[in-house]
Order: sequence, then structure tokens, then C-alpha cells
Amino acid sequence: MSNIALNQNGEQTTTTTGETEERVLTEWTNYEFDDETKLAVSDLDVYYGNDHALKGVSMDIPEKSVTALIGPSGCGKSTFLRCLNRMNDRIDAAAIDGSVTLDGEEIYQDGVNLVELRKRVGMVFQSPNPFPKSIRDNISYGPRKHGDIRTGLLARLLDDDDREAESDLVERSLRDAALWDEVSDRLGDNALGLSGGQQQRLCIARCLAVNPEVILMDEPASALDPIATAKIEELIESLADEYTVVVVTHNMQQAARISDQTAVFLTGGELVEYDRTEKIFEDPDSQRVEEYITGKFG
Ligand SMILES: Nc1ncnc2c1ncn2[C@@H]1O[C@H](COP(=O)(O)OP(=O)(O)OP(=O)(O)O)[C@@H](O)[C@H]1O
Ligand SMILES: [Mg+2]
Repeated sequence: MSNIALNQNGEQTTTTTGETEERVLTEWTNYEFDDETKLAVSDLDVYYGNDHALKGVSMDIPEKSVTALIGPSGCGKSTFLRCLNRMNDRIDAAAIDGSVTLDGEEIYQDGVNLVELRKRVGMVFQSPNPFPKSIRDNISYGPRKHGDIRTGLLARLLDDDDREAESDLVERSLRDAALWDEVSDRLGDNALGLSGGQQQRLCIARCLAVNPEVILMDEPASALDPIATAKIEELIESLADEYTVVVVTHNMQQAARISDQTAVFLTGGELVEYDRTEKIFEDPDSQRVEEYITGKFG
């Protein structure tokens, strides 16, 4: 079997050994949905030097739902996710071409305030990364930085102390991240003393504290045990009532359990198929997607 496939332009692309030859059809990625579009990505290309990591990816992401991104290692899932809040801008080697809109507004244009963008489109990483500070300070750090609450010595001297607002915010964020009951009696303790699963929920709470609209998660449960993973999965599903969640996962059962729609990226940085999650897992159009989800490669 050859390991050559054709992309949308009919060009040959090398694929992982074991993948079948196949031309990707545009209709496979044209997922239609009834809800409002939160993020619209069109013709997105990302290069790291000569490495063409994402090739002409277009997909619209509906608001208040869970979108899963799956695919074999190196296919560009994290790269794609980082494009959604311009985190790739921080990588010197990365060159990005194409368009991403948030509520219809282009995020790749001059004058976009990146701090504000990343407040609206927050991110949770694979390994929990709490600050070496108290649980309370981990949550209130962002809102303080953005000027949403004022606490501390200066605020007290200026008689501008929002201690009560801070407590409310800390409690609400921890409740929304399903962590409050486990930590309410030790908010002053160092966050690094929490378990891995608790630390990850704390990072989600920290993200929620600045009132995001979109939450990007890159394999948020891959470093966790099954019980902690189940809690994160349950949390992700509940967050979709209020937020637009985009989650990268290596775990296909997890994608099937928690997401409303699934995008499958395959070798070479192509988006091959994007549809309702049941459709992707039960009856995909692409033979390569079928082979990937049934474990034939990847
Ligand atoms: N900072 C970087 N500098 C150079 N190349 C990079 C960088 N980040 C990613 N790449 C390359 O871009 C391609 C896609 O990588 P990416 O991390 O997006 O894949 P992924 O699908 O998230 O993989 P994994 O499942 O292993 O996390 C790979 O070929 C990778 O080597
Ligand atoms: Mg990745």
C-alpha cells in the first residue's frame, strides 16, 4: 500500500504509514449547525519555518457547545487550537496565514488587543500549571490584573478595597469548576499542595474568573487518573451551557462522550472531516477517518 494521499488541490501529501490513499472532499468538513457561529476559521495555513503544519483549514465553531479536535500525534491539533487566541504569535518560527473571526470580528488584524482577546478566549493546558500562590490568589490574580477587582495594601489605603467582591468571585469560579466543596476550608493554602486533578480544576476556575466566552483546552485530562478525568469530563460538558469549549484529546472515547461535534485532523495538517460527533464515530465519510477511529493507525 502506498503512503501517498491527495489533498483538496489534488497535490500529493505523505501520510502516516498505513493510511489509505484518499482525496479529501470539501463537503466532509462543511458541518452545518443551527446555533450561532462563535469562531469562524477560513483557509488557515501555519508554517514553522519550512514545515507546513496546517493546510488550508476552514471550520466554523458553534457557540455554547463542545468541539473536540482529534487526530494522530503531530497532525496540528495544538497548532490549530493556539491559532484561536493567537497564542502562536508567541512562537517566533510560526507564520500564520488565513482568517479567524470571533463573533464575526477578525482576530488577525492590526490593532487587536491580545490581552483582551486572550481574556475572551482563555486556555487550559495539558499539565496543570497553577501559580505557586494560595488557591485564592490563583483565582483573583487575573481579575486584579485586568482591574476588575482591587485588593491589597494600595486598595486599602485608597479606601477602594473590593475584598467582598473578591470572595464572591473566588467562590463562584471554584463552584463553576466543581472544586469549591473540596477547597472551601483552605483557600489560603498553596495551590501546589492540591492533587493533579484538583490543580487542573483550579486552572479551569482561574480561566473562568476573567469571564471568558471561549475556553480552549489542550488534552486537559491526559495527565490525570480515571477518577479525576471523569470529573474534568463532567465539568467540560456542564461548561458548554455557558461557554464555547474547544478541546483537543487523544482519547477517542472521551471525544465521543463529551463533544457535540468532532473535527478529525490527519497527517500533513489537514482537516479531513468535521461533523456531529455521532456521525464521525458511527458513519464517517472518509475512509481514513474510519480507519483512524477504529484504531488501524495513529
Ligand atoms: N513551536 C514549534 N516549532 C516548530 N515546529 C513546531 C512547533 N510546534 C509544533 N511544531 C510542528 O508542527 C506540527 C504539528 O504539531 P502540533 O503540536 O500542532 O501537533 P499535535 O497534533 O498537537 O500533536 P500531539 O498530539 O503530539 O500533541 C508538527 O510537525 C510539529 O513538529
Ligand atoms: Mg498537541
